[in-house]
Amino acid sequence: MSDQASRLRNLVEERAEEEAQERTIGELYFGVSEDTRVIAITSGKGGVGKTNLAVNLAVALQLSGKRVMLIDADIGMANVNLLMGSVTNRSLIDLLDDEVQLEDVVEDGVAGVKYISGVAGIEAALNLNRNEQKKLHKKLGRCSEMADIILIDTGAGLNRNVIEFVLAAEEVLLVTTPEPTSLADAYAVIKAYTTYTERRNIKLVVNRIRDEEECEDVAEKINQTTKKFLELTIETLGYIYEDKNVRESVHRQEPFVIVNQDSAASRCIFELARSLLSGEKMSPVSRGWRGFLDRLFGY
Ligand SMILES: Nc1ncnc2c1ncn2[C@@H]1O[C@H](COP(=O)(O)OP(=O)(O)O)[C@@H](O)[C@H]1O
Ligand SMILES: [Mg+2]
Repeated sequence: MSDQASRLRNLVEERAEEEAQERTIGELYFGVSEDTRVIAITSGKGGVGKTNLAVNLAVALQLSGKRVMLIDADIGMANVNLLMGSVTNRSLIDLLDDEVQLEDVVEDGVAGVKYISGVAGIEAALNLNRNEQKKLHKKLGRCSEMADIILIDTGAGLNRNVIEFVLAAEEVLLVTTPEPTSLADAYAVIKAYTTYTERRNIKLVVNRIRDEEECEDVAEKINQTTKKFLELTIETLGYIYEDKNVRESVHRQEPFVIVNQDSAASRCIFELARSLLSGEKMSPVSRGWRGFLDRLFGY
């Protein structure tokens, strides 16, 4: 193992130990709920649709009656607030200020989704000293009082900031598109994940597909490699169609599950949300009229 990798591993183990201790403190002081689900949304390659999934899934889960919190942990590319269509004054890092409480950094987003903006906050947070880390840790502990589900939009790739969030989360959604580069990078994430943790709860979401077969294709390709080299099968949570409504909603700065509830991408998101909540497989989503036309004219 390289020096860097072993340093990373030590760091991760250290944090896990501290977390275990702090959890008891959290329980004592804040009554931290054990039931809150924490789901990290990550990818190998950037620009594959993490933030769109995070925001729209958060809204869909909220609309289905859950209390959802979305934390923007994408360093440098933090843009959850853009897709929520709002400007935020404060980010996670402001919690280091003794005067600032969790409530001060939590924003009310679309449909009542609560979110914490990323901006430049997280990057600095990783260079914090122990005391500062503890402060953040303690203040953030109360997020679980505000939410049944916490979604974390992470950055792409394998850098320390990303992997820490991925490792700390109970569940991980790994987003990929059918592009070969995106697949290769997704595999790299799976490989890193299996190196650092015993957990195996990482599921694929295949974005920007033309038809269901393309999703099956992607899953098969990834699993050929993971089975061969890691003796591991990765489950697929589901897929999202390529849909021009996604880009339009990005321009409008409104989640597509709100602006165009009936679009192919929205119906996929609602189905993904249902699958996450029920534990059942995603039911097939039809692409509707456009899908019909595409098939008819052989696209
Ligand atoms: N299902 C989709 N259909 C069409 N375009 C999409 C879809 N998902 C993402 N996109 C496009 O990709 C861009 C990048 O998505 P984003 O969620 O910001 O990626 P990431 O967070 O992984 O960097 C979006 O602005 C949108 O234009
Ligand atoms: Mg993003």
